[in-house]
Amino acid sequence: MTNQPKRYLITAALPYANGLKHIGHLAGAYLPADIYVRYLRAQKRDVAFICGSDEHGTAIPIQAMKEGTTPRAIIDKYHELIRQNFADLGISFDIYHRTSEPIHHETSREWFTYLNDRGELIVKESEQYYDEEAKTFLADRFIVGTCPVCGNPRAYGDQCENCGSSLSPEILIDPHSTLSGASPVKRATKHWYLPLDRHEAFLREWILGEHKNDWRASVVGQCKSWIDGGLQPRAVTRDLDWGVKVPLADAEGKVLYVWFDAPIGYVSATRQWGLDTGKDWKPYWYDKDTKLVHFIGKDNIVFHCLIFPVMLKLHGNILPDNVPANEFLNLEGDKMSTSRGWSIEMEEYIDDFIRKDNGGSQLADSLRYYLTTIAPETKDADFTWKGFQDANNSELVAKLGNFVNRTFVLMHKLCNGKVPPLHASKLDDTDREMIAAVGATKKKVEELLEAYRFRDAQFEAMMLSDLANKYMQKKEPWIVARTLAEHPENQQLIDNSLHICLQVTANLAILINPFLPFTARKMMHMMKVVEKMLDWENAGKPNLLSVGYSLRAPELLFRKIEDEEVKKQIERLQAKAAAKLAADQAATATPSSGEAQTGNTGSGKASAKPAGTTAGEAAPAKSTIVYDDFAKLDLRVGTIINAEKVEKADKLLKLLVDLGTEQRTIVSGIAQHFEPAGIVGRQVVVVANLAPRKMRGIESNGMILMAEDGSGKLHFVNPEDKIAPGSGVS
Ligand code: 2FM
Ligand code: ZN
Repeated sequence: MTNQPKRYLITAALPYANGLKHIGHLAGAYLPADIYVRYLRAQKRDVAFICGSDEHGTAIPIQAMKEGTTPRAIIDKYHELIRQNFADLGISFDIYHRTSEPIHHETSREWFTYLNDRGELIVKESEQYYDEEAKTFLADRFIVGTCPVCGNPRAYGDQCENCGSSLSPEILIDPHSTLSGASPVKRATKHWYLPLDRHEAFLREWILGEHKNDWRASVVGQCKSWIDGGLQPRAVTRDLDWGVKVPLADAEGKVLYVWFDAPIGYVSATRQWGLDTGKDWKPYWYDKDTKLVHFIGKDNIVFHCLIFPVMLKLHGNILPDNVPANEFLNLEGDKMSTSRGWSIEMEEYIDDFIRKDNGGSQLADSLRYYLTTIAPETKDADFTWKGFQDANNSELVAKLGNFVNRTFVLMHKLCNGKVPPLHASKLDDTDREMIAAVGATKKKVEELLEAYRFRDAQFEAMMLSDLANKYMQKKEPWIVARTLAEHPENQQLIDNSLHICLQVTANLAILINPFLPFTARKMMHMMKVVEKMLDWENAGKPNLLSVGYSLRAPELLFRKIEDEEVKKQIERLQAKAAAKLAADQAATATPSSGEAQTGNTGSGKASAKPAGTTAGEAAPAKSTIVYDDFAKLDLRVGTIINAEKVEKADKLLKLLVDLGTEQRTIVSGIAQHFEPAGIVGRQVVVVANLAPRKMRGIESNGMILMAEDGSGKLHFVNPEDKIAPGSGVS
């Protein structure tokens, strides 16, 4: 679309309301979308910015099981938390809706019926897993078993969260239902499918032809590989009791697949926004003069570029003009993952840097700024706390903040707190170049924003503050002030440089507004101007502030981030990951000698399962510990150098374990699982600082860690490669 469209419909992926969202999500979809929307609004374009909670799918009941509550309680809790987090970080949705709302159910059912009535869906019968005890079909997530790749006994039917492998229930070892513990059986069921294969020619032409050059290469590339790989019919229904009920009499117990109803959530949210504002929502989805842009992360490309567009075409709606999907954001060199505790949740950042910091919304901008400087637009990027500190201190504080502060301080000191006049006859080339740079910057920022290049756009805007600092440094009005006694006419030079610096400040507020909205407002307050000044059409003008207008005293725009704060955050991240690991290990690892000491396990092996859980069912995570709790454990690698049975104790083995600097006797309850001779030479992880304890007259000095799979079989926990005995484990 080359000409300016009549209106814009901007969507950001609806996050699942099953847990807190991290800053990788923010950087992936919501922040770039917000920057774009703020720019469009400043351009006075007609725009609707749509988002909300994705409240269906198996992720929700699974989380409810984990938290021991209901799906409804989960979505109510996380919808509100996530909504507030976005608001605190300045993400300015026009509506943050919910797919659990009746208007959404109604809209989704209408879409399904529309497509089905026109023969655009097909029905197929297939075999799916069924739980005969719970009397329900099982989504892949409701089946757990042992991962054939890494041996994790709690792998899901679709994925192992330990090693990340994509799985299917067929290849799980000992699969069983999380609902009843029963082994699932295959049973025939019918489902409705969207035959994507019928639409290959359309998709090929639309994406690989029409949008080959204006969509991001990574997006086109991913679509191409899906299309070239052969498109298959995609199921749009599921056997589940949580979601939008399929509106057909012969579809008892079936709901729309979450990925069918979620994108329709954009439509139902727009309908609701229309009701709330009195606007006609229909042109936003039906009029060809609307520019629809979906902001998403790269894991959502197939749904937004292939499946939903086919649904849109069949339903008679407009198609997206662009889908600027971002790559992923890593954290301190590792993949960001909430389940591994290697993440910074928006909530955590807000709590530490905004709620606890007086007037902390400036730190919302600091995060927005850094995330945009490293935006994963073309490749994965890495968030580091040091990088965050540097961006804040060396750029926001030292460049933008410093320039604005100096300008205001000097204007108060040398120009009576008023915008000084401009003396045209005294302008030199340096002044003229500075004025020209403002217009040139506006043009560059605008072009980059229109091309969804937010990282470069922000860079250009910030370059203006860099240039302005240099300009002021060259003009040195504070030095010129020393000559005033002898040369009072030099006041005109001071006036000129501060007049220009103030006009640059006003321009900076407009140019940074899409990126740093809180800062722009703080600058407006200092300049005593109204919101209207931030209209994009004002950017580039050298006369935004009237001569003689008195301005407020300066306020610091940003504060420094101290080394101590960075250190604390890194420690907190490590502690969180360690606590998650410990909780996961507690759910799977077997404290072998500890259990044998109590003598209360019939099999002689330990179990991490709480009483009342069925075999193989995921044990609830233990309560969170702090890093100091974890750090108390002295975990070391040892090598078993001798093993023998303990007389009159059929469960116990007496082990001699080499810990590098010493050899320990450890009594372990693993006799029914291993032959003594077979384990000599094996490496083990030893809890080396466990208080000694006597068993059958033998003092046991430590404990070895074992993992227990769903069938109760024990496995050694040891390093992948042999390493020196005594090596620490952390
Ligand atoms: O990946 C996700 O978090 C999905 N809930 C995104 C849905 S986007 C849209 F289709 F609603
Ligand atoms: Zn695995």
